[in-house]
Amino acid sequence: MGATINKHILLAVSGGIAAYKSAELVRLLRKQRAEVRVVMTHAAIQFVAPLTFQSLSGNPVHSELLDSAQENAMGHINLARWADVLLVAPATANCIAKFSQGLADDLLSTLYLAATCPVYIAPAMNQAMWNKAVTQENITKLISHGVKVIGPGKGDQACGENGLGRMAEPSEICDILCATDPDRLSLAGNKVLISAGPTREPLDPVRYITNRSSGKMGYALAHAALKAGAQVTLVSGPVSLSAPLGAKVIRVETAAEMHAAVMENIAGHAVYIGAAAVADYSPLVMQHEKIKKSADLTTLTLTKTKDILAAVASLDKRPYTVGFAAETHELELYAKNKLSQKNLDMIAANWVGHDEGGFDSEQNALQVFWKTGQKTLEMANKNQIAMQLIDLIADCMSEK
Ligand code: C5P
Repeated sequence: MGATINKHILLAVSGGIAAYKSAELVRLLRKQRAEVRVVMTHAAIQFVAPLTFQSLSGNPVHSELLDSAQENAMGHINLARWADVLLVAPATANCIAKFSQGLADDLLSTLYLAATCPVYIAPAMNQAMWNKAVTQENITKLISHGVKVIGPGKGDQACGENGLGRMAEPSEICDILCATDPDRLSLAGNKVLISAGPTREPLDPVRYITNRSSGKMGYALAHAALKAGAQVTLVSGPVSLSAPLGAKVIRVETAAEMHAAVMENIAGHAVYIGAAAVADYSPLVMQHEKIKKSADLTTLTLTKTKDILAAVASLDKRPYTVGFAAETHELELYAKNKLSQKNLDMIAANWVGHDEGGFDSEQNALQVFWKTGQKTLEMANKNQIAMQLIDLIADCMSEK
């Protein structure tokens, strides 16, 4: 847990047995220097006494919509304005249904409607309730409205059943909030799809063609976009990096699978960043048995893969489309050609085959070109470069 939160977190506790875990959550958030105020539904108060949350947060607990004393001290609108983040943990099936319908019949549902800050929910419920079609429809609707969903996890449940529906662990929720920087919400409310890593093009059951991409740049971009408040989908080729907390990760192997995953998921995304090193060619046929060595010379017939970036850029409702160009020579010329030939909004070019930067390195430097400008991002750690590039994308999008 590197970063601190240092902000106003409005923690809403709804009525589930997981409410007891939220007491620990308050403690962890405060350790990260967040100021925490707690709202409890009437059902939540049946599980944990408000005094517990009052003592841990150091602030009075709010539970009434029309409480004259609390309305004077901090009405629901003021409470919503005070928050930099609204975090609902646990979020019951009932409160998720209310949010998705826009009901406002108690303090929490009213706060949700009044909140203009990023909203995170950590669902907790019985596995059958979670899997019910209507709950999944409600969740999908909330995600499309920009709500970020943390968990739920899988495992033994308080009801004795086993499955999906356990509230995410307080430490995981805290890590995700730490990964978002409320001061740098340049992409808040936007959905960003990033493709990262290499692809593997199988020759036979044991061999494949791939490249030296480690996926570090794409994963750093996913972290930076999350920090900037975006909802992130990461389509990843085979890499040995762990999934960024809070991102939806779709794992693929081949260029064809990456193309399918990107095209199936791109709708609704405001930004696409093609940071993957997609194979340009794939074996025409995959042999189903191991190819035996015989002749001294042999030939592979390769066929061109579909260009994912160009396909996204040619969509009718296209996102802001950003490509990468890894070049060994004539960097500016090739990058600018790609920008216009693939009809991109922006291209980030980097040298490969040099001592520093590029594939499998912790560092990178980028030469970024767009239709009306260019910028050099000097050699730095890939995480820093990623944050600069995300901010540049946000700036250029707002100018468009
Ligand atoms: O044309 P070239 O492969 O050099 O362009 C690199 C850019 O195009 C990268 O952003 C890469 O992710 C993307 N690309 C793609 N589909 C391919 C090949 C490259 O999206 N089949």
